[in-house]
Amino acid sequence: MTMMKAGLFLAEKNVAMGELEKPITKNGEALVKVSFAGICGTDMMIYFGKHPRAKVPLAMGHEFSGVIENINGESEFSVGDRVVVEPTLSCGKCEACLAGQSHVCKNLKLIGIDKHGGFAEYTTVPLDRLHPIPDGLSDAHAALAEPVAVAVHAVRRSNLKVGDNVAILGGGPIGLLIGLMAKRAGADQIIVSDISPYRLDKAKKLGLFAIDAKEVNVTEEIKQRTNGVGADVVFEVAGTQITANQMIEISRIQGQIVVVSVYKQSPLIDIAAMHFKEISLTTTRCYSRGDFEKAIRLMATGMVEVAPFISHELPLEEIAKGFELMENPDVSLKVLFQPN
Ligand SMILES: NC(=O)c1ccc[n+]([C@@H]2O[C@H](COP(=O)([O-])OP(=O)(O)OC[C@H]3O[C@@H](n4cnc5c(N)ncnc54)[C@H](O)[C@@H]3O)[C@@H](O)[C@H]2O)c1
Ligand SMILES: [Zn+2]
Ligand SMILES: [Zn+2]
Repeated sequence: MTMMKAGLFLAEKNVAMGELEKPITKNGEALVKVSFAGICGTDMMIYFGKHPRAKVPLAMGHEFSGVIENINGESEFSVGDRVVVEPTLSCGKCEACLAGQSHVCKNLKLIGIDKHGGFAEYTTVPLDRLHPIPDGLSDAHAALAEPVAVAVHAVRRSNLKVGDNVAILGGGPIGLLIGLMAKRAGADQIIVSDISPYRLDKAKKLGLFAIDAKEVNVTEEIKQRTNGVGADVVFEVAGTQITANQMIEISRIQGQIVVVSVYKQSPLIDIAAMHFKEISLTTTRCYSRGDFEKAIRLMATGMVEVAPFISHELPLEEIAKGFELMENPDVSLKVLFQPN
C-alpha cells in the first residue's frame, strides 16, 4: 500500500497534515496530481463542524487543478495533461439528471465532501469531471474555475440587461466575481456592499462601487444612486438576515432578486413587500457543465482576471494557517494550497 500526504479535516476547527492511502483509479477515473487547491466557504462550513455530510478524516477541497497521472478507461485526455476539476457528482437517474439538469441532481455529491478532494497529493476524479486547461491559463488561476462558474451561473440566471443597475450584497469571492461578470454582461452601475474594509478595498480595485454597510444606510445609498428607483437586479451573496431584508428594500418595482447565498439559518423573507413591488426571486445552485466551460474560457481569454482574488498561496503543510486566514475576511479572499 502506497501512502500520500494529505491535509485533513479531523474535528471542528482542527485541520492537520496526515497520510491517506494513495488512491487507485477505478474504470472511468483518472488519478490527478493536484497542483493548486483553493479554500471555499463550503470548506469553512466543514471546518466549523457545520457540514452534515463531512466525515473525518477528510481531505477537503473541491476547487482544484492538477496534472493527469494515470487514466483508467477510454478518454480523450492523456497522461500529463493539465486539468481543472468540475467537482459535482450527480446520480444520472433522478428527474433532474434525466432532464439534463444534473447540477440540481436530487442526490448531488461533491468531490472534497463526499470523497477525498484536492487537499492531498493525489485524488481520483471521474473522467467526465475533467476539463483541459487552455494554454496561457496558469494552474493557479485555473483552480478558481469553480467559483467563477458559480458567478457565471448566477449572472446567466438573472435577467440582467445592458444598462441595468446592479446591487450585490456581500463582497466575498463570489459577490466580487458576480460583479466582474455583471460588468462583462453590460451592467451600468455595480454597487457592492460589505462590512469588511479589506473586501471593500478589493471591490474598489476591481472597478466596482463599494459601500460600507457598517457606515452607511445601504438602502438609502442605493436608492439615491438610482434616482429613487432601486436596483434592476439584486444579488444576495452575504447570507445574512440583514441582507435578506435589504434585498427587497433596494429592488426596484418589478425588479429581480437572485439569491446565491447558502444560508446557515434560513432567513425570514417579507413576501408581502415583494408582492407590492411584483419582485421576482431566483435561486441558484452550482453551475452547469456549460457554465464551467464558459468560466474557463472567460479566464483564459482574460475577460475575467482572477489574480486579484488570490490573497495567499501556501504549501499544504500550512493547512492550519490557511484556515485561520480564511476565518478572517479582513485579511483574506482566496487561499490556495500547493500540495505538490
Ligand atoms: N449557490 C451556490 O451554488 C453557491 C456556491 C458557492 C457559494 N455560495 C454561497 O455564496 C455566499 C458567498 O460566498 P463567498 O465564498 O463569497 O462567502 P464569504 O463569506 O467570503 O462572503 C460573504 C461576504 O458577505 C459579507 N457580509 C457579511 N455581513 C454583511 C452585511 N450585513 N452586508 C454586506 N456584506 C456582508 C462578509 O464580510 C463577506 O465578505 C455564501 O453564502 C456561500 O455559501 C453559493
Ligand atoms: Zn467552492
Ligand atoms: Zn440525479
